[in-house]
Amino acid sequence: MRIGLLNSGGDCPGLNAVTHGVVGAATQLGWEVYGFRQGYEGLLSPGDYKVLKVEKTEGILKVGGTILGSSNKGHFVSKVGAGGVRAIPTELMDEAVATMKGLGVEALICVGGDGSLSTAQQFYEHGFPVVGVPKTIDNDLAATAMTFGFDSACHSVVDALDRLQTTAESHKRVMVLEVMGRHAGWIALYGGMGGGACSILIPEIPFDLNKVAETIKHRDENGFFHSLVVVAEGAAPIGGTQLYEETKEDGESRLGGIGEQVAKQLSALTGKDTRCTTLGHLQRGGSPTALDRVLGTRFGVKAVKLIEEKRFGRMVSYQQYHVGSVPIKEAVRELNLVDPEGEVVEAAKSVGISFGD
Ligand code: F6P
Repeated sequence: MRIGLLNSGGDCPGLNAVTHGVVGAATQLGWEVYGFRQGYEGLLSPGDYKVLKVEKTEGILKVGGTILGSSNKGHFVSKVGAGGVRAIPTELMDEAVATMKGLGVEALICVGGDGSLSTAQQFYEHGFPVVGVPKTIDNDLAATAMTFGFDSACHSVVDALDRLQTTAESHKRVMVLEVMGRHAGWIALYGGMGGGACSILIPEIPFDLNKVAETIKHRDENGFFHSLVVVAEGAAPIGGTQLYEETKEDGESRLGGIGEQVAKQLSALTGKDTRCTTLGHLQRGGSPTALDRVLGTRFGVKAVKLIEEKRFGRMVSYQQYHVGSVPIKEAVRELNLVDPEGEVVEAAKSVGISFGD
């Protein structure tokens, strides 16, 4: 048997671990793996691919990015704006399917976030055997308790906060760190808790900066003259809206700027010297953590198993320490958001972290 593999959407640490898992498991079954380059674009005629043999994937487990490349734009984008889905034109689907059939590819593994998996679902409904693997550093897919890449992203946030803390302390400053997280504040929450932030602002909890300023002043009164504030890019003040650097008609608009705004306003409210750092794509690059390497490998192996069992139209899913699967259709429907009343937020509040609410 010959199967196809592609990575679609924004990259994240652990993608190569998935490839390692897919190629390892497929090779043991005597199958061949064709890796399509730059996501779905690689399916356009005549097909842009490389044959992935075990020798080619040796040592990639620890490598960041993806040896196949990825894309979050192009012909097969199915996500439009916030929550809209675009139907991929039938001629394009036919072309892609013909490319795969011409190469003898009998099933396809699509590794991607909700938008890319919506495209995978369209291929499945078009009659091509597909399985999905969830990928999002934001950890915002409800159908899986965790995705690879999230832990590595949190690790980058903690590392940045550890560095910001020392310079903040030297200058008695407030340091604001803007991190990724469009709809879900998981990276801000875990990174902020792990890195000792006094305040964490997330999309799920609209904030009032007066509350954050009170926390900072309280720290000052207790002799802690520096403070770390983490802001998710998708966070917004009570009654306000998310800030965009660039708005797009097609695909996802680019969030950005909330960190600077929070820093300016906190400086005015507290009278303290305040600086903002935007961590950006440092969260997406670099070597994956041990957890992401293992999770990625397990996801890849499971995807091959789903094909072996002919359970198409399903997405690999991690639930209660076990890698299982769910229908892709269900997986793309619901976001995994931070519960403002949940145990994690409660624990953070118990150690004095303010969410600005
Ligand atoms: O969806 C993952 C994500 O990392 C978001 O948190 C972020 O808004 C976006 O990708 C950035 O995408 P791009 O690489 O296109 O700037």
